[in-house]
Amino acid sequence: MTNNKRVVTYALPYANGMLHLGHIMGMVQVDCYVRSLRMQNIDVTFVCGDDAHGTPIMLNAMKQGISPEQLIGQFYKEHVQDVRGFAISFDGYHTTHSMLNTQIVHQVYHRLNQGNMIVQKSIQQAYDVDQEMFLPDRYIKGECPKCGAQDQYGDHCEVCGKTYAIKDLKSPVSIMSNTSPVWKESLHDFFRLSSEQGSVEQWLSGSDIQESVKNKLGEWFVEGLQDWDITRDAPYFGIEIPNQPNKYFYVWLDAPFGYLSALGATLGLAEPQAIFDVWNDLNIEHFIGKDIVCFHGVFWPAVLKKAGLKAPSKLHVHGFLTLAGDKMSKSRGRFVSTRDYLAKLPADMLRYYFASRLSTTVADVDLDWQDFVLKVNADLVGKLANIGSRSQGFVHKYHEGCLGSRVDEDFWQTLISRHEEIMASYQAVNLAQVCRLVMELCDETNQYVDHHKPWVLAKEGDQEQLLLVATTALAAFRYLVYLLAPIIPNTAEKVAEAMGESQPVLQLDPFVGMKVNKFGHLLSRVVKEDVAFE
Ligand code: MSP
Ligand code: ZN
Repeated sequence: MTNNKRVVTYALPYANGMLHLGHIMGMVQVDCYVRSLRMQNIDVTFVCGDDAHGTPIMLNAMKQGISPEQLIGQFYKEHVQDVRGFAISFDGYHTTHSMLNTQIVHQVYHRLNQGNMIVQKSIQQAYDVDQEMFLPDRYIKGECPKCGAQDQYGDHCEVCGKTYAIKDLKSPVSIMSNTSPVWKESLHDFFRLSSEQGSVEQWLSGSDIQESVKNKLGEWFVEGLQDWDITRDAPYFGIEIPNQPNKYFYVWLDAPFGYLSALGATLGLAEPQAIFDVWNDLNIEHFIGKDIVCFHGVFWPAVLKKAGLKAPSKLHVHGFLTLAGDKMSKSRGRFVSTRDYLAKLPADMLRYYFASRLSTTVADVDLDWQDFVLKVNADLVGKLANIGSRSQGFVHKYHEGCLGSRVDEDFWQTLISRHEEIMASYQAVNLAQVCRLVMELCDETNQYVDHHKPWVLAKEGDQEQLLLVATTALAAFRYLVYLLAPIIPNTAEKVAEAMGESQPVLQLDPFVGMKVNKFGHLLSRVVKEDVAFE
């Protein structure tokens, strides 16, 4: 019997470079979702880690004259720091380059073999004689067979947009050695994906996946699924295939099992079987970007099922982050590093901005710094923080920081009337809607204060009414901040501290009768200079 516990994951970033704001956007989305689950006391284990294998990592290390282990070790440390910097609340952040992951993959391979799911086929691949290695498609350049454009990569032409078989590329050259590759035979293991189409389609129709993603995945079934090559030849940085010298598992076979090894390591489980048992008893929810839908929506559920493991119940896909309408590109200076951002601005601001732009679609999100300034100033500073700063003074000046014993009941009922709707929006991962709804409530609260004019009440000496209005506004402020706590956790913690609470706890009862501390500037207005990153 499945219980209601969940494991939630984010796609494992490659240990081959710094995290960029695109990675952070994906992590923020899932982190807001997970924090909202925890807020509702749902049992969730939230894991991620580095994807540490594959050709690019091996070659990058070689180029730098260090071992792949050294390279992935360096990036691991940086990734962990960035993740902390943006307050992503993983319960565990691990790596696929671990003993545990190797054991899991070997165990799975054994099961697949037992189930007759592995078939060996001899294939021809491009081989660089000079470098003594087989070449992945993107390490070969040549002339497009369709339009004749020079310098086109692997199997796809960027000029005419056509795709073709790598064998048809004219005058191919290895980008490793500038020599022309030869074709060489090699024996590979294939996972019999072709026999799994029915079961994958069935899984797809019964899972919680955005409709547009389901449609996209459906395109793969029209052509019919092909067996999947899971072998790579040495030299390769990865997990060795048992009893096959110089053969490794393709990184995309071992990477998703990083979800299981991360779960195991987080829960302190050392044996694959113990992890499999826990996994099969959980609801599994993966959050990923749109570029890796096929791996998670076709290969992964099929492999899991054939290994006697549970397939995910939810797949949530986000679009890409672009900068001012263009792809992020380091070489063209179109890049803001996580460090540069955090050196200038609080994590909560970018978290809020991303959340306000992320609904349930797979559309790309554009980060335009002008728009960021407007949005953050209007919403977080102008609407939300304003409620707190304009009302706390009265409580401190006239009532020694003590809240009154009651709130304006009519207003309070209006305020909390949308609670369920907001919680449902979190559950649907519609963060843009959460932001919109909470901002509407902020507007109503500010109108409430405008209408009752506490500054006039103070002048007239109507202390009773003043205390009622200020208490209502501060209690509303606390409620609104806590509603947004999954999105702006650092701010919410500061407010909780000022309210004398150890952490933000969302509740529908008004917060009355307490002595509260002053909070300083929670969020200051952003100015142009703050976002001058170049
Ligand atoms: N290692 C694989 C995932 C293995 S999961 C078993 C991978 N790594 S990645 O570093 O390229 O990407 C990690 C995540 O970041 C993916 O969800 C990917 O979609 C996301 N993004 C990478 N570039 C991005 C943007 N520019 N914008 C938003 N998300 C981006 O894929
Ligand atoms: Zn072309």
